[in-house]
Amino acid sequence: MPQQVSVVGLGNMGSKLAATLLEAGLEVTVWNRSPEKAAELKSAGARSAASAPEAMAVAPLTIACLARYENLYDALADVDREALSGSTLVNLSWGAPEDAQAMDAWVRERGGTYIDGGIPVYPSGIGRSDTELVFSGPADLWARHVEVLKILGGASRLVSEDVGAGNALCLAVPGGFYHTAYGAFFEMAAYVSRYGITPSDLRSQVSSALRLLDESVEESINAIEKGEYDGNQASIWIQWDSIVMARDAVQRQNQKGTLVDALASLFERAVESGHSDERAAALFPMLKDGG
Ligand SMILES: NC(=O)c1ccc[n+]([C@@H]2O[C@H](COP(=O)([O-])OP(=O)(O)OC[C@H]3O[C@@H](n4cnc5c(N)ncnc54)[C@H](OP(=O)(O)O)[C@@H]3O)[C@@H](O)[C@H]2O)c1
Repeated sequence: MPQQVSVVGLGNMGSKLAATLLEAGLEVTVWNRSPEKAAELKSAGARSAASAPEAMAVAPLTIACLARYENLYDALADVDREALSGSTLVNLSWGAPEDAQAMDAWVRERGGTYIDGGIPVYPSGIGRSDTELVFSGPADLWARHVEVLKILGGASRLVSEDVGAGNALCLAVPGGFYHTAYGAFFEMAAYVSRYGITPSDLRSQVSSALRLLDESVEESINAIEKGEYDGNQASIWIQWDSIVMARDAVQRQNQKGTLVDALASLFERAVESGHSDERAAALFPMLKDGG
């Protein structure tokens, strides 16, 4: 008999999660606040529940993907104490570590078990073998549901038993890291456009920079693991000097240069606190210690 799973929330992401589970042959029950979004899934074989608590009651595993955590509390407002006994909730809504910790306590108070998760891809990435969704929660619970959860992303993994860790990782890398780099592309493309260079002209340089970034991050991870911060290729001082030059050039063109200015401040703090001769990896212990 096929495994049963419920999906709560059928926005762009929740619909793709439900469709992927259906295509894999699971028995899927869905619920969405606006019921019309269930129509296509119903014609593909999904059942629909009249409420989120009903969806949770019919399957041992429920995957929720609503805009925010508070939407899930709203959807489950009528759930009594002990009503979630025997149910595991996996919440893939985007949020902070503290949201995951509070939701975990809320579910356990009602007799259920909880895994938190984060999705670092667009809906088009769901169901691919190389997609890594990140989960956090009890390892035994992960082991019980891993087969179903890996249908959503074949490279998915449990990053920690600390239920807030998955959200921290998602806020940090697809959140802060990716968006900062993405935003910097637009800031710099706007700057060079004043010299007749189009965004399309940047393709090859951006590709090289991304490869270099990959190598630099790998080298920095090794340096951090060994605790070795001696400058080898470029010192923090020389990098700070070139970043300041970039910031000043952008600002001379009456552009704010918000991101490059923030980067200059970061490296300046490292210079002022005595890290001039070290390599950029030395920023990690400085920042970790509150610098
Ligand atoms: N789309 C992406 O590329 C992507 C990537 C990674 C992570 N995520 C995360 O996945 C989550 C869902 O994103 P999405 O793209 O599917 O968003 P979406 O298309 O805007 O859908 C939002 C979902 O939340 C529901 N909702 C909103 N307010 C609600 C409320 N008060 N009560 C009950 N349900 C409510 C909506 O129901 P209605 O249909 O009734 O409005 C809908 O099911 C978000 O946390 C997002 O950050 C999305």
